Amino acid sequence: MLSLFRKDQVFSLLGVLLLSACNSFSSEFVGVEPLGVHPNGNVFIGMESCKECHLDIVNSHLSTSHWLTSSKVRSDNLVPFLNVNTNSFFLEDNTEVRFTSINDSIYQQVYNPPYQTPFFSKSLDVVIGSGTKVGYSFLSWEKSSLFQLQGSFYKPNLNWINSPGYPSKFQAFRPIYPRCLECHVTYSQSENWESPIVNNRYNKNNIVFGIDCQRCHGPVLEHVKYHRENQYDKKAKKIIKFADLTQQQRLDVCALCHSGSRSNINQPAFSFEVGDLLDNYLSPQVTGEPDVHSNQVGLLLKSTCFIESEKMDCMTCHDPHSDEKNNMVKFNNRCIECHQNKEHIRFKTDQNSDCVGCHMPYRESNIMKIQINPDSIKSVMIRTHKIDIY
Ligand code: HEC
Ligand code: HEC
Ligand code: HEC
Ligand code: HEC
Ligand code: HEC
Ligand code: HEC
Ligand code: HEC
Repeated sequence: MLSLFRKDQVFSLLGVLLLSACNSFSSEFVGVEPLGVHPNGNVFIGMESCKECHLDIVNSHLSTSHWLTSSKVRSDNLVPFLNVNTNSFFLEDNTEVRFTSINDSIYQQVYNPPYQTPFFSKSLDVVIGSGTKVGYSFLSWEKSSLFQLQGSFYKPNLNWINSPGYPSKFQAFRPIYPRCLECHVTYSQSENWESPIVNNRYNKNNIVFGIDCQRCHGPVLEHVKYHRENQYDKKAKKIIKFADLTQQQRLDVCALCHSGSRSNINQPAFSFEVGDLLDNYLSPQVTGEPDVHSNQVGLLLKSTCFIESEKMDCMTCHDPHSDEKNNMVKFNNRCIECHQNKEHIRFKTDQNSDCVGCHMPYRESNIMKIQINPDSIKSVMIRTHKIDIY
């Protein structure tokens, strides 16, 4: 269902297949077309241009929740959303929020009793969320302003619900500020981006949806040009090397989006680049226990494993280019690499037992809560990264 979202990719994929079918040694390459340009001059070229040299990584990345976390809504991928039991939900104030297909688009329409003519009607333009955990939220354009709509699609039950954080009465719009996009797209820029007063007005044609290579690897244009001109140089040039980074720098690449909802300070959103120190860009983490939702860094830092080992980071357990959900054999092997022959005193465990299930259990998020129906609010369960004895 999700792969349907990236029609642009399917197109380009065809292009690459055609090219390589003609002649694999052809000097024709997928053109380097900018998808977005940062005011500082950094050009975002997208991952089509990596395929000729990093095909496996690109293909594997296409199925990650990073890549699938945002895209434009297109007419041909709308059908799955309407093919469910109920295409509407009610709020406490008796308004009904319905989802209807009109001229190749889906609209959110809101009705008051007797539910005949909508008093509010807006198209679903952008989808946020890969759907792996909770589902999808939808954004809508009003000229150049970007807003979140009241209805979200809840994947586990395949139905529409009130968006997390929305009150249980009708509210037309919630503005989408840059920090929200900073965690869910590769690049975007709001108007007056250097002003300390944030706004929700964006240039529609300067947004790079999905989290792609450049979000984690920084500028790549010179790297691509160099290697196209120097095909025999097999050593990476003109690109930041993760192996040269300190533990803090490696952690910070992920912490941009996995250390909680810190707000931008000093520097506007989308200024941080791999290699920078994140504390110069985001306000310090709030005191108190870090929440399981989007604060894996805060929790890992409190774990004995992290404190007592020399250079643990996220890549100790995760391959950033692969979808490894539920690959428990792999994850348990990571534990065993450091904890060999783990014999528990009180009970028997063996090398195949579920280390993660006991030491990184699911915990309720205090921040991410969803309202399945008007009178029930439920916390989303997320695996804790405080590796501990529970
Ligand atoms: C014309 C060939 C070519 C293209 C195109 C290319 N690369 Fe590379 N890249 C290389 C070579 C050669 C290396 C060194 C061998 C390796 O690590 O695979 C490399 C290495 C890398 C590395 C590893 C750096 C390190 O830590 O050592 C990254 C990251 C990278 N490329 C990213 C990209 C991205 C992102 C793109 C697309 C925007 C891209 N490359 C396009 C040839 C290319
Ligand atoms: C979520 C962040 C993230 C994204 C997105 C990402 N990478 Fe990486 N990549 C990393 C990290 C971190 C490393 C270093 C891994 C390590 O040192 O253990 C890495 C390593 C690499 C390497 C060198 C080592 C290897 O695995 O061969 C290449 C080449 C590379 N990435 C290319 C890409 C390309 C091409 C894309 C886009 C399709 C991409 N990366 C997307 C984080 C990312
Ligand atoms: C630009 C923001 C951003 C960066 C940088 C980032 N992530 Fe993520 N990551 C996300 C978002 C957003 C999600 C949830 C996507 C969704 O499901 O819609 C996510 C999901 C994940 C998941 C869960 C995958 C799944 O399917 O359950 C893992 C694991 C992960 N990230 C690891 C990393 C690691 C490791 C790094 C650093 C190398 C990193 N991330 C960097 C934003 C980011
Ligand atoms: C600090 C980074 C960050 C910010 C800011 C953020 N998110 Fe997320 N979001 C995440 C991460 C990480 C996840 C994956 C689950 C987790 O770790 O809790 C996620 C999960 C989601 C999901 C569920 C995806 C799924 O696969 O089920 C949706 C929908 C979502 N976010 C929408 C939004 C919207 C809309 C905003 C802004 C109003 C926003 N997020 C702000 C990091 C962020
Ligand atoms: C890079 C090495 C490394 C990895 C990987 C690792 N740990 Fe640890 N862990 C340590 C070290 C070092 C300690 C502290 C000494 C000890 O208790 O063995 C520790 C401590 C622990 C403790 C004791 C916690 C306490 O507060 O007493 C538990 C439980 C634990 N690890 C479980 C795990 C599990 C489960 C995994 C896999 C998800 C894992 N570890 C992965 C290095 C690691
Ligand atoms: C000791 C191993 C280990 C380390 C280190 C680690 N993780 Fe994880 N992570 C896991 C395991 C195990 C899961 C559960 C995978 C699953 O259930 O499919 C997980 C899941 C996740 C998820 C998805 C959570 C959910 O419930 O949807 C995210 C996001 C994530 N990790 C990000 C990170 C980030 C960011 C870092 C670095 C701060 C990191 N992880 C470091 C083992 C680790
Ligand atoms: C059924 C739940 C369970 C499973 C499965 C489990 N543990 Fe534990 N673990 C515990 C409990 C409870 C303790 C507290 C000490 C005890 O009672 O033995 C503990 C203690 C530990 C400790 C710290 C004390 C010590 O003995 O050094 C480490 C490290 C550890 N476990 C690692 C692992 C690893 C690695 C695995 C997977 C091979 C694993 N555990 C599987 C429940 C579990």
